[in-house]
Amino acid sequence: MTYATVTGTAIEEAADWLRKGHLVAFPTETVYGLGGNALHADTVVRIFETKERPLYNPLIVHVAQVDEARALVRQWPNGLDILTNTFWPGPLTLLLERNQLVPDLVTAGLDRVAIRIPDHPMALALIRACGFPLAAPSANLFSRISPTTAEHVRNQLEGRIPYILDGGPCTVGLESTIIGLQDGRWCIYRQGAVTAPDLEAFVGKVHTALPTPSPVAPGLLPMHYAPRTRLEFGPLPPGDPRLRSPRTGLLRFDRRLPGISAVQVILAPDSSLHTAARELYAALHQLDSLPLDLILAEPVPEEGLGRAINDRLQRAAGTNIPAGPRNQE
Ligand code: TXA
Ligand code: MG
Repeated sequence: MTYATVTGTAIEEAADWLRKGHLVAFPTETVYGLGGNALHADTVVRIFETKERPLYNPLIVHVAQVDEARALVRQWPNGLDILTNTFWPGPLTLLLERNQLVPDLVTAGLDRVAIRIPDHPMALALIRACGFPLAAPSANLFSRISPTTAEHVRNQLEGRIPYILDGGPCTVGLESTIIGLQDGRWCIYRQGAVTAPDLEAFVGKVHTALPTPSPVAPGLLPMHYAPRTRLEFGPLPPGDPRLRSPRTGLLRFDRRLPGISAVQVILAPDSSLHTAARELYAALHQLDSLPLDLILAEPVPEEGLGRAINDRLQRAAGTNIPAGPRNQE
């Protein structure tokens, strides 16, 4: 099915498409989502088709209030309220034991369903208008760069969906942190804007899952979020000869390198990791749209949000080199 894709701000129009079983891209604070009725298996299949996503990769379910999350799970673990009270709405996704309302397709057959309340007024208004939860992966084609503007969505999904709700650029810019209980302890399956220390202030020691090709959390697959141009991630030796070529792209944290011909994109002239996270995918989209042979990405400081940013860059490079203590647990 092909559509004349409309970009706009009409919640009712978007909700109308969703009620009829179609898909709509909508803004969240992290990245744009490709949403469909999470309780309707036929619609969920469309999400996978539209995104060209393999069926083994499960979807996050978006709700507008905590009760709606409770309605989808078998149990609500002790200690969960403190997390939902603190971090929802927000960039924290919880893996919880699902009940029979959740179609197998949503979880790719896994016992747990991923749920979050996004912190974006349009996303919340849309979910409320529909009256059902929205299954939504990031609104990009499988393995491509996540969208942080309506235009990024259009560039990848034009003709494949009827409506893109435009909420402006995403304020966080990186996908949500994914956590779940493992042997009674909270474990981070995907790094994001909510960091381990943020969580530890409320729930004690939090562990970090190793990157793995298993479907426990395929956000941990080594190759993900990738531009089409080859990307290398790592510190650059001073005077790297590739920086002399105008067909090289260079992605840096906060300062331009003088005296080189490579095309430079600086993530955060203000040296803020928050800014870098917000700009990361737009920078990758921009470099990927240029006639370059290679993109070189340097790590940002490996602290706080910087870990999640470096994690995404490492995956974009398709490399899977453990980067220090965070992978040792
Ligand atoms: O910030 C976000 O999380 C964005 C916005 C749209 O909410 N969504 C997003 O969705 O990043 P997606 O599909 O691109 O990534 C979701 C990740 C995938 O790596 C998926 O494997 C993992 O969540 N996931 C979803 N359900 C899961 C489950 N039941 N068990 C383990 N991992 C799950
Ligand atoms: Mg994604």
